[in-house]
Parts: sequence; structure tokens; C-alpha cells
Amino acid sequence: MAILVTGGSGFIGSHTVVELQEAGYEVVVIDNLSNSTEKSLKRVEEITGKSVKFYKLDIRDREGLNELFEKEDIDSCIHFAGLKAVGESVAKPWEYYENNIGGTLTLVDVMRQHGVKNMIFSSSSTVYGDPDSVPVTEESPVKKCTNPYGSTKSMQETIFADIQHADPEWNIVLLRYFNPIGAHPSGKIGEDPNGIPNNLMPYITQVAVGKQPFLRVFGNDYPTPDGTGVRDYIHVVDLAKGHVKALERIKANCGLAVYNLGTGRGYSVLEIVKNFEEASGVKIPYEIQARRPGDIAENYSDASKAEREMGWKAEKGILEMCADSWNWQKNNPDGYGK
Ligand code: NAD
Ligand code: UD1
Repeated sequence: MAILVTGGSGFIGSHTVVELQEAGYEVVVIDNLSNSTEKSLKRVEEITGKSVKFYKLDIRDREGLNELFEKEDIDSCIHFAGLKAVGESVAKPWEYYENNIGGTLTLVDVMRQHGVKNMIFSSSSTVYGDPDSVPVTEESPVKKCTNPYGSTKSMQETIFADIQHADPEWNIVLLRYFNPIGAHPSGKIGEDPNGIPNNLMPYITQVAVGKQPFLRVFGNDYPTPDGTGVRDYIHVVDLAKGHVKALERIKANCGLAVYNLGTGRGYSVLEIVKNFEEASGVKIPYEIQARRPGDIAENYSDASKAEREMGWKAEKGILEMCADSWNWQKNNPDGYGK
């Protein structure tokens, strides 16, 4: 029996394939390569010494999915495939709803037609919106999102909850990721954003390799200790391991389960700069600029439920996250190369 990993050549997917293979799981990856390259999976093979079964397939392609489920012996699905750029989603809402929601509906339908009713879904801390208080627990209110990307995540959560409620044969784990950074310690796989990065860590690493002149710090007038935004950064390898733990919950017939995956500790933008400089020995010039529209002051997790129920806890600290992000970027200044 194999685990189907959708979006498995992407950033979090490729790291999860490593952890799954290292835990002894058979893995089948599908991806339409809209935001990744198959080269990441070649690197995964170098790390694990095992081959990765890959199909270039879109989750909206019903016929292709049917053929796949007939051919492969799939037991569970880890569903990463989706579009994820916040700004782009504001400009192209139809594309985001069609890809993320439409694709998920097709995938789920094909799965149930083949009697496969085990699902782990990539949700996001974005479903908490601007939280009333931190840390957020899984019981904190889910708020209206400020952008279509975030809305696709909360809508997909609702869809999954309704499906599981209607058919209790489904086991569905919704994982709410905080801010994944870092890379595999081998430096072989990592985050490879297209164009100018939107997120903090890939921007910092591009400043460090000289691809960007300086970091723009978006606002230093937030009600946080140093005025800059605070987030819960989590090492992508810890995050990937969370999926292996979630598979054990599925095996125990968990029904619907929701977990925060974070470290429980917030860091400000300036603290990240300081830690990156310490980990890399490279100075990061920065300029304070205006707040970025849609940004919130502070968000970090209470991840104790994942520890209690899945026995999962983030182990890697901020210096290791920075060192591994840097190791990846330094060894692969152009990512996987276009
Ligand atoms: P990513 O873009 O690297 O990976 C997503 C993969 O899905 C890509 O390889 C892309 O080619 C593929 N894909 C997109 N649409 C597809 C389709 N219709 N059919 C098949 N493949 C398709 O992104 P990531 O950072 O690895 O994120 C993985 C998941 O986690 C996404 O659902 C994302 O929304 C979610 N998430 C990411 C973050 C983050 O900060 N990276 C935070 C919270 C949640
Ligand atoms: C962003 C997304 C969120 C998504 C998350 C994934 C927005 C508005 N939100 O959140 O939906 O789930 O990524 O991890 O894009 N910063 C700078 N300069 C930069 C980049 C970022 O100062 O060049 C600051 C931001 O203001 C923020 C912090 O760094 O305080 C982290 O930003 P980012 O990495 O973009 O993550 P989020 O804002 O948490």
C-alpha cells in the first residue's frame, strides 16, 4: 500500500517524501509542475537512496486520477497540491478557487470512488486571521480571510469537515502550518520561489547571496517588543515529520482531527535577521519601510495538542532553521535552475 502525495515535488512535499521514505512508506507523487520541478524528486532520491514514483498529473484531471487509482494501490493521501501566493490570489481569485477548491473536490471524489478515505490536508495558520490573542489553539476562532488564498484554505477545511461528518468512514487530518522555513540539512532540497520572494526567509537568503540588495522590513510600529511582525517559524523537516505522525492518527481511525504545527515560539523580523546573521556569518542590510497591506502584528501557535495526541513536537531551533536555509541557498544560488 502506498501513500499518494499530491504536490509532492514542491517545497513541503519534497521534504515530506524524504521523511515518508525514511520511515519505510511506499510513496506515489503527483504534481502538475506549475510551481516546481521534477529535479527536486531526483534530489530526494539522492538523499534517501530510494526511487520516487512520479506522475505528472493535475488534481483537476479526473480521468488521469482514475487511471492512477486503478494502477496504484493507494491507502492514504497527503494533499499539498495548490496555488499559494497571497498577492497573486487577490489578482486571480477565479484561478485560485478553481485550482484549490475544484481540484480538491475532484481528488476527493475519485478517492471515494476507489474506496480510499484517508486524507491529510495542508491547511495554514492563515485561517486564524488576525487572532484576538496568542498563542492560538485549534479552538481559537477561524476568521474571515483577507485574501482568496486564505479563503481557499478555510473553505477546504469546511468541505473536509462536512465530508467526514456525512461519511464517518473518512479519516481526515487538517494540519495548520505556521511559517515553514529551513531546508533539508543535506542542502539538496529547499524552497525555490519563482521571481522575487514574498516571504521573509527566502528574501533574506537572496540578500545574503547578493540577488537582492537589502531587506525591506515591513513596519516597525506594530504592538510587538521591537515593533516588527512576530511569527512562529518552523523547520520544514519538523513539519514534514508531522505528516508521518499524522498517518499514525489515520491508522488509529481518528475521524476528523485538527492540529497546529508550529514551535509555540514567536520571533520578530529583526530577531530573524539577527539569528540569520549569526548562523551564516553574513550581514543582512535592511531598511524599515511601511507596513505590508493585509499583514498582522503577531501570530504563534499553541502546538500542545499535536504533542498530546500525535506525539509530535518541533525539535529544531531558530539557528538551525537559519543555518539550513542558508546552506540550501548558498549551495543552490539559482534553486533547482530553471
Ligand atoms: P509549493 O508551491 O512548493 O508546492 C505545491 C505544489 O503543488 C507545487 O509543486 C505545484 O506545482 C503543485 N500544484 C499546484 N496546483 C496543482 C494541481 N492543480 N495539480 C497538481 N499539482 C499542483 O508550496 P509549498 O510551500 O510546498 O506548500 C504546500 C502546501 O502547503 C500548499 O497547499 C500550501 O498552500 C500549504 N501551505 C504552505 C505554507 C508555506 O508557507 N509554504 C504555509 C501554510 C500552508
Ligand atoms: C504569509 C502570507 C500567509 C501565508 C504565509 C505562509 C501574506 C500577507 N500572508 O504570511 O497567508 O500563510 O505567508 O508562510 O503574504 N516581511 C518583511 N519583509 C519581507 C517579507 C516579510 O518584513 O520582505 C515580514 C512580514 O511583514 C511579516 C514577517 O516578515 O511580519 C513574515 O512574513 P511572511 O514570510 O511573508 O509570512 P506571513 O506574513 O506570516
